Amino acid sequence: MANRFSPSVFLRNLITKKNIDAAIESTKENHLEKTLGVWDLIMLGVGAIIGSGIFAIVGVAAAGENGAGPALMISMIIAAIACVFSALCYTEFATMIPITGGAYIYTYATLGEFMAWIIGWVLMLEYAIGFIAVSCAWTNHFLQFIKGFSAFLPHWLTNPPQWLISDYRGAVNYYNAQGIDPSTVIPSFGSVPFCINLPAIIMILLTTLILVKGTKDSAKMAALMVFIKLGVIGLFVLAGLFYIKPENWTPFAPNGFEGIFVGAFIIFFAYIGFDALATAAEECKNPQKDLPIGIIGSLAITTIVYVLVALVLTGIIPTGAANVPEGLLKAPMAYAMTVVGQDWIAGLISVGSIAGLTSVLLVLHLASTRVLYAMSRDYFIPSVFQKIHKKFKTPHVLTITVGVVGMLGTIILDLNVAASLCNFGTFTSFIIVCVAILIMRKTEPDRERPFKVPFCPLFPILGILCCGGLMVYSMVISKGESATLSAELFVVWIIIGILIYSSYGYRKHRKVEKLENKAE
Ligand code: ALA
Repeated sequence: MANRFSPSVFLRNLITKKNIDAAIESTKENHLEKTLGVWDLIMLGVGAIIGSGIFAIVGVAAAGENGAGPALMISMIIAAIACVFSALCYTEFATMIPITGGAYIYTYATLGEFMAWIIGWVLMLEYAIGFIAVSCAWTNHFLQFIKGFSAFLPHWLTNPPQWLISDYRGAVNYYNAQGIDPSTVIPSFGSVPFCINLPAIIMILLTTLILVKGTKDSAKMAALMVFIKLGVIGLFVLAGLFYIKPENWTPFAPNGFEGIFVGAFIIFFAYIGFDALATAAEECKNPQKDLPIGIIGSLAITTIVYVLVALVLTGIIPTGAANVPEGLLKAPMAYAMTVVGQDWIAGLISVGSIAGLTSVLLVLHLASTRVLYAMSRDYFIPSVFQKIHKKFKTPHVLTITVGVVGMLGTIILDLNVAASLCNFGTFTSFIIVCVAILIMRKTEPDRERPFKVPFCPLFPILGILCCGGLMVYSMVISKGESATLSAELFVVWIIIGILIYSSYGYRKHRKVEKLENKAE
């Protein structure tokens, strides 16, 4: 008999694939409640997608260094095309394997155990690290919003000390820029400085409570946020139409193709989130019918909304000018409305951006717990995380754990690096899902596919090329410190993942496998 720890057995274990039918069957025992319909899915999708990308980052994509200028609408379409191929692949998988876990499960079924662990780990970059980044951005938008009420609120509330609203590095940079010695203002316990991002932590606490209470409630909450944010974006587009000056659209692409592609890479962040829907497949009432509409529908809605915003924004404000106002880079829509004298619309846009970020937070938190839940069901992480709340039927231990990790993350993580890491994670997972579709079509051609990616293998290959191309291009053109740091952190993250797998996941999984084989 072959030794269990011989290299050949070890390698065979690494590429062991998940039996899809058994996996679908096993979800019937320890199940999540099926509450989501097509409407909930579209709301969760749009809720996950429209956030800081369109309310903040769009300004950098249009008018930042090497930005796209008025050609931003072309950048948006390029980014949407890069997403749509992956979205189609996600949809084929989500309808074929309607169980929680998203890309992690699809990889397990096609590329085997080791790659599944790696992709699950990489998905944490997209969802959990993205969740931390968005919660920090939430603080900025919230502060901007309450500053509008300076006349009515106490000064300490509208101008809190930096050490209460930022991570340590951010606070030190802030005080240094003001010419203040950070050690004289940042409180400390002994030699440990005390900096916390309090608004972000309170927000994470709230999303944790909502998610523990139930997925249906989270979808309802996301729907409310979606209405608010779509409402204010609609108001911006309609009001902005009256202030468009066609001369602002020339030159159309001030930085040529490079600007258009830089814009596409930056604005790609604005589309992240539709894939999170696939992680909630197990909670859908009718995944085969509703998931394709949910995923493709939310991507289509957001693309239309984004292109309209780009058209109006670049029509109101010149985006090719040398000196770019800070307002245009930080809160472009609100800034544009202030420029045309519509301050009240600018105020409403602030409310919309807070709503937008809140719904993104909810869905990213939800998605990270669902991927980890699937990983714990396979015993790659401790089985305590499989616990489902008796009353609320949600994985409460995981939800609370991710919430606590998120809170700690806001204390130590730099925002720019977190967002960049999130992009790396997303590109990698999109590429792997496209590869997995190609493999699955070969290995299981007869499996029932309620939805099929059209023009296969062309579309998955285009998905790989578009995402891979944008990822490589971004690495080549971005020579900044944070880009290099995030590339290095990406490698470190993968190494940590391999260490956890080899020291815990691999062994635990084998132990359970052995027990199950004995029981049979
Ligand atoms: N797409 C999400 C946002 O723009 C991540 O905030």
